[in-house]
Amino acid sequence: MQSGRNNTMSQAAQAKLTPSAAFHAEPVLWVRHWNDRLFSFAVSRPASFRFRSGEFVMIGLPAEGKPLLRAYSVASPAHADELEFLSIKVQDGPLTSKLQLIQPGDDLWLGRKTTGTLVADALLPGKRLFLLATGTGLAPFLSIIRDPEIYERFEHVVVVHSVRRVSDLAYRQELTAKLADDPLVAENAAMQFTYVATVTREEFPNQLRITTMLRDGSLFEHGVPGAAELSPETDRAMMCGSMDMIKDLSAIFEGKGFAEGSNAQPGQYVIERAFVG
Ligand SMILES: Cc1cc2nc3c(=O)[nH]c(=O)nc-3n(C[C@H](O)[C@H](O)[C@H](O)COP(=O)(O)OP(=O)(O)OC[C@H]3O[C@@H](n4cnc5c(N)ncnc54)[C@H](O)[C@@H]3O)c2cc1C
Ligand SMILES: NC(=O)c1ccc[n+]([C@@H]2O[C@H](COP(=O)([O-])OP(=O)(O)OC[C@H]3O[C@@H](n4cnc5c(N)ncnc54)[C@H](OP(=O)(O)O)[C@@H]3O)[C@@H](O)[C@H]2O)c1
Repeated sequence: MQSGRNNTMSQAAQAKLTPSAAFHAEPVLWVRHWNDRLFSFAVSRPASFRFRSGEFVMIGLPAEGKPLLRAYSVASPAHADELEFLSIKVQDGPLTSKLQLIQPGDDLWLGRKTTGTLVADALLPGKRLFLLATGTGLAPFLSIIRDPEIYERFEHVVVVHSVRRVSDLAYRQELTAKLADDPLVAENAAMQFTYVATVTREEFPNQLRITTMLRDGSLFEHGVPGAAELSPETDRAMMCGSMDMIKDLSAIFEGKGFAEGSNAQPGQYVIERAFVG
């Protein structure tokens, strides 16, 4: 765990934010650092803030009098009292070089509008749901798997998280324990949830990319119930992460007869990139 802030953040936090028509100013409730590249934090939830599990919102900090904003997936589920985020730390990143220094009590800008395609409504009904993430692409899936509704819509939910380093496996303990500490979903998740972690650039029991695990079928050796192949009839998927991964995974799913969905026209899989670049 890291803590500590520098004077830049203190000064930024001291410049009290003023809520506007487009933004709330919400206090940070807690911060959890996973490693030198990743951290999670939560802010209080304004009473008027509505979102669907899996959506993203613009968040930010003040910079030279103006808010510096970036898109972030909400990692907490739609019913939660607080809004949780999983963030990268880009050392020279305009926002995250400062955001990584936030402390409880600091104010964060929070957009009033949420949006996104990684929502259950953009998928046709199905039996198995595959949530495929690289890096911080896990964030929207943390929201979805902690929403009791997903276990009513799908018989089984599988999260596959691919990262470079073992310490990049944020929430590994909670996911390995099948969300046992979450009273709203623990009972369903115990029966209906599977977590598959893979670490591609350090020693780890599973070191294969998601694309490789799908091509060679080894994904289904990790406790995924049902047929050991993907079916557009009964399987649904969401993908979030780097653009390269999304392109490669989309090609695999399209090749198996899956059609991409949207809010306007639900389909068999949906995508969202976790960052631009
Ligand atoms: C729809 C959407 C949802 C997003 N959700 C999240 C989220 O939940 N958590 C999150 O940390 N970021 C998320 N991002 C990325 C986020 O908007 C910012 O890019 C990120 O916070 C870095 O901001 P920055 O100003 O420090 O650097 P930027 O100038 O925005 O980025 C600098 C460079 O850092 C790299 N980078 C940026 N974000 C990431 C990332 N998440 N993982 C790996 N490399 C990255 C890219 O190479 C990028 O060009 C999302 C982006 C989009 C488009
Ligand atoms: N994570 C770090 O330790 C680290 C440190 C410094 C800088 N960075 C920089 O930060 C940026 C993002 O890094 P990141 O680690 O968050 O994300 P990333 O490079 O997208 O890697 C995350 C996971 O996605 C996998 N992946 C990448 N492309 C894929 C594809 N086409 N198909 C299937 N799987 C794919 C990676 O496997 P592979 O390992 O096989 O590529 C890895 O397991 C990169 O530009 C990187 O240079 C990362």
